[in-house]
Amino acid sequence: MSETLTLAVTKGRVLKDSLDILAKVGIEPTEDMSSSRKLVFETTRPGFRLMVLRGMDVPTYVEQGVADLGMSGRDVLLEHGGDGYYEPLDLRIGQCQIMVAGLKDEGPLPKRLRIATKFVNTTKRFYAEKGVQVDIIKLYGAMELAPLTGLAHRIVDIVETGNTLKANGLVPIERVEIISTYLIVNKIALKTKHQYITPLIEGLAGVTG
Ligand code: PRP
Repeated sequence: MSETLTLAVTKGRVLKDSLDILAKVGIEPTEDMSSSRKLVFETTRPGFRLMVLRGMDVPTYVEQGVADLGMSGRDVLLEHGGDGYYEPLDLRIGQCQIMVAGLKDEGPLPKRLRIATKFVNTTKRFYAEKGVQVDIIKLYGAMELAPLTGLAHRIVDIVETGNTLKANGLVPIERVEIISTYLIVNKIALKTKHQYITPLIEGLAGVTG
């Protein structure tokens, strides 16, 4: 392959699963990504580069065409809401849910709830569809603290095992979305690099079950 292809992956807990899938189609980083501070890595496939980004930045890089492809959580895609990319494949990794959660013993609640979340757009959409008015408080992490401290009545957050909720005396209340990691592809790159990208999508489809 002489054409350069760049795939943006997310640092953090899904990175290992993302690399495992790529290894199954014969693409492996030429150095250990977990022990390096670098952000761009060459791979065993000539011209195929990996870029390691924060999750929320993956769709931005793909939309702008800096990365041709990306592996991005559906939570991030729903929140980002871009249209410069296709989502051709559910990679079936990073499976979790976005849930509404609250204190185990909530006690009486006001009619209009305060909801803490980093998924502001998704949360707005969810309650708007139900016709329920809420006040949303944007947080960047440690969401579980919000109901415990009285900052918010409930949270909308990622739940995977449920251990974090449980450890903080919270319980899941309602499911907002089912989440997994998707392959995304820049729309123009799919046209101009079709002969490289299409076989890759087919290969990945073959190893994701
Ligand atoms: C997510 C989420 C919860 C936790 C849930 O955070 O915000 O804190 O995972 O997982 P569990 O149900 O298996 O306990 P993450 O570790 O992704 O870090 P973040 O705060 O940076 O999003």
